[in-house]
Amino acid sequence: MSLVREDILAVLAKDFSHKRALGRRALCKVLIELSLKVETSETILDLGCGSGRLLIPLAKLYPHKKFVGVDLSEEMLISLRDNVVGEGLTNVEVIKADFDNGWTEKLSSIKFDLVIFFQSIHFVGDLPRLVNRVKTILSDKGSMIIASTNHEQFYGLPYCRSLEKVLKRELSRTPDEPVIVRAFTDGGFSLINRVILTVKKQFTPSTLEMWTQSRPFSVLAYLTNVEFKKWQKNFHERVSGREVVIDRMVILTFGLVG
Ligand SMILES: C[S@@+](CC[C@H](N)C(=O)[O-])C[C@H]1O[C@@H](n2cnc3c(N)ncnc32)[C@H](O)[C@@H]1O
Repeated sequence: MSLVREDILAVLAKDFSHKRALGRRALCKVLIELSLKVETSETILDLGCGSGRLLIPLAKLYPHKKFVGVDLSEEMLISLRDNVVGEGLTNVEVIKADFDNGWTEKLSSIKFDLVIFFQSIHFVGDLPRLVNRVKTILSDKGSMIIASTNHEQFYGLPYCRSLEKVLKRELSRTPDEPVIVRAFTDGGFSLINRVILTVKKQFTPSTLEMWTQSRPFSVLAYLTNVEFKKWQKNFHERVSGREVVIDRMVILTFGLVG
């Protein structure tokens, strides 16, 4: 793993749950979507779990199911472990591993009924290889839920439209939805559900300043200071005084065929 990527993960990790808060309505929608699958699963893996934005509420909702969280960022995992302890959860195991390299070997031999992979796909080096690795740790009727942003969605997002470089980088680093679907169908999965979600946020001038200053999207870590200032100015002009669309995502559920 290169130094640049570690830097980017560290920027992303700083106060992640606060910066990328989903908002009440969006969080409920996501949790309902995930719960539909968690209900029928006993063992759940959250791959690239971050600080536990989803893992913690799910583990609280289902105290008798076993949850494992995997992430590479030590900062994210420190915050996750704090949350696990703070909530008194005994059904969560936390593992530091790189989902691009050797992660399945770090898991004990249990098979998972569900793998959650939420807004992390833009960090994957080799998607077909990840799909193959996931298959080795899934139970026979296992499934995987992925949340990503498809290319069409990026064009309408204010944070992408505030600087050409941001839009271009998001488009180049994130596989488009058809590419994701193909990687899974080629790998022996079928698409069983598709949901679109929009995340909105309302700012005051001071919360907007604080929020943008915290570099809430990992793509912003690739900008020079001058580029970042330009992005920030454009973003503020674009969103001032209005409810803003922060994120759009497509949530895809894949099940193993056969
Ligand atoms: C945008 S965050 C999403 C976190 C969480 N899934 C959520 O929705 O709250 C992306 C996460 O992927 C993790 N990540 C990035 N590259 C990784 C890798 N190679 N192996 C494991 N985790 C990685 C980051 O540390 C970060 O926590």
